Amino acid sequence: MILSHIVAAAKNGVIGKDNQLPWHIPEDLKFFREKTKGRALIMGRKTFESVGHPLPDRLNVVVTRNPDFKQRHESPDSKTPVHVVSSLKEAIDYCSEQVHRYGEEVFIIGGGEIFRESMNIVDLIYLTRIHRDYPGDITYPDVDPLKFEEIERRDRSEPTEFSFLTYSRKDL
Ligand SMILES: NC(=O)c1ccc[n+]([C@@H]2O[C@H](COP(=O)([O-])OP(=O)(O)OC[C@H]3O[C@@H](n4cnc5c(N)ncnc54)[C@H](OP(=O)(O)O)[C@@H]3O)[C@@H](O)[C@H]2O)c1
Repeated sequence: MILSHIVAAAKNGVIGKDNQLPWHIPEDLKFFREKTKGRALIMGRKTFESVGHPLPDRLNVVVTRNPDFKQRHESPDSKTPVHVVSSLKEAIDYCSEQVHRYGEEVFIIGGGEIFRESMNIVDLIYLTRIHRDYPGDITYPDVDPLKFEEIERRDRSEPTEFSFLTYSRKDL
């Protein structure tokens, strides 16, 4: 199993404001859709609620400490399955049992709390870096150059300057 982050962050690290994305970059949304289609996704409860619905054609694994959340939101619906777990470890264990169905690469899609908790265990980071600061209340941690190397970069300019960056964990 390969564990990956997929995230868009401003120059100052901001990834969210008032439980929403602070920008609208259609090409990044397309990148996210294409990269994660058919895959298993792990997300924090706040990110799940901010998206507002399960992401279709993907396994949605939602992490929460609230036991009531499970009854209200868990769904085995085959097009938009939602599985609720009570820890990140449980999420990863569950996804590792589903690789035959959703593929070897499992995506952690946020938000800030879940990214921070998994920074030390991810193999790959797909980081869309927007080259300007945004105001916001949730940030993505700095990618440590001692632990990760940039293996791909594509610079874009519409509707604002940004880059699709891929980082791989260095073999220690
Ligand atoms: N730019 C991007 O790429 C991107 C991607 C995703 C999200 N975002 C933004 O990020 C923001 C949301 O991030 P956030 O940090 O506020 O919240 P989050 O990480 O999405 O969710 C946090 C919640 O997840 C649950 N949780 C976290 N760690 C847990 C653990 N170890 N065990 C059990 N449950 C755990 C808790 O849920 P309970 O409180 O229910 O227990 C916690 O309140 C939004 O603004 C969103 O728009 C941005």
